[in-house]
Amino acid sequence: MDFQLTEEQKLIQQTAREFARNEVAKDAAERDQKEEFPAHHVRTMAELGFMGMTVAPEYGGSGLDSISYVIVIEELSKADASVGVICSVNNSLVCFGIEHYGSDATKQKYLVPLAKGEKLGAFCLSEPGSGSDASSMTTTAVLKDGNYLLNGTKNWITNGKNADTYVITAHTDPTGGHRGISVFVVEKSFPGFFIGNKEKKLGIRSSDTVTINLDDCVVPRENRLGKEGEGFKIAMQTLDGGRIGIAAQALGIAQASLEAAVEYAKERVQFGKPIASFQAIQFKLADMETRINAARLLTYQAAWRKDQGVNFTTEAAKAKVFASETAVYASTEAVQIFGANGYLKDYPVEKYMRDSKITEIYEGTSEIQRIVIGRSLVK
Ligand code: CAA
Repeated sequence: MDFQLTEEQKLIQQTAREFARNEVAKDAAERDQKEEFPAHHVRTMAELGFMGMTVAPEYGGSGLDSISYVIVIEELSKADASVGVICSVNNSLVCFGIEHYGSDATKQKYLVPLAKGEKLGAFCLSEPGSGSDASSMTTTAVLKDGNYLLNGTKNWITNGKNADTYVITAHTDPTGGHRGISVFVVEKSFPGFFIGNKEKKLGIRSSDTVTINLDDCVVPRENRLGKEGEGFKIAMQTLDGGRIGIAAQALGIAQASLEAAVEYAKERVQFGKPIASFQAIQFKLADMETRINAARLLTYQAAWRKDQGVNFTTEAAKAKVFASETAVYASTEAVQIFGANGYLKDYPVEKYMRDSKITEIYEGTSEIQRIVIGRSLVK
């Protein structure tokens, strides 16, 4: 067992950290306030090879390991969790499925530009009536004259407004339960594809979240990923990897909260001393640091297992549930350490607290992660 990062991983960490600190952090608060999509940062991430990190170089990717991917998402999310999730969705939820289930022609057409960051991707699973119970979706795909016609509504779609390429689940056999679901690659320009209004959110306000309406949306037969009926399994495997990305995003928020709290505690003087000298504050910092460390180890372990080609479903669930709850905990404690200042927009910690909450919800709530872990223990 080796707990050291490799020289390559250290270099990637340094590159991501410099970009995040010098560029992403600079306009994070302003973009948050204006709910502005960071198109300029997405362009730079493409140049840095961050949009298709684990995709094979022959398909436009950087061919990195999953630990490197985790490191990059953590660094981006330390500066701005919105940028972290934009990158994570493109990598984990979009590139993954196309690389593993697309034909060579589909990969050339869709994966290459996505992995190079020339196009942006979104993943469409949830529906107004189908969130945690993912297989209860009602969107349908009917094969007619060589094309599928997709009908339904997908919502809470990250990157939904700015994406070009959408990975969408739908029932090809509505009587087949989860075994009747298939997955499709859909272009924004396809007839019958409509983007709804942008949602107003508590946090990650610089990333866009929309509803997608499919009204006889015409999708060529060859745009199906995998076989008919394989879609639920593909979606679940995709989410296993996605959960590692969200764990990394949560790690970034938690780490940023800790660093801000340490710095502030050393400067803020009360009762004639920096508040960092009080045990009440040190104990908070110690608990934040310990939990963050544990979350990082769980996340690295899940990423490592993914690269070993062994099952990592429960490890991804453990990493996600623990890291996301750590992010909520650490950012809330950071606000507490900042006191009244923590409640103001003049300091970054209120944003960390707002951004942290979604990590307990999307890509499977904490309750769903516990179901995945619990079922594995009693099966
Ligand atoms: N990998 C591969 N296959 C899997 C799997 C996995 N991780 N998990 C389940 N399956 C397979 C099972 O083996 C089973 O296969 P069979 O056909 O052989 O029976 C099938 O899928 C059904 O499994 P379950 O009976 O366990 O299914 P379930 O209906 O009980 O659901 C669940 C399981 C874990 C609750 C699942 O529905 C789930 O993860 N729900 C949460 C959905 C979610 O995470 N949504 C996030 C939305 S995406 C998002 O947030 C993106 C964004 O924009 C940021």
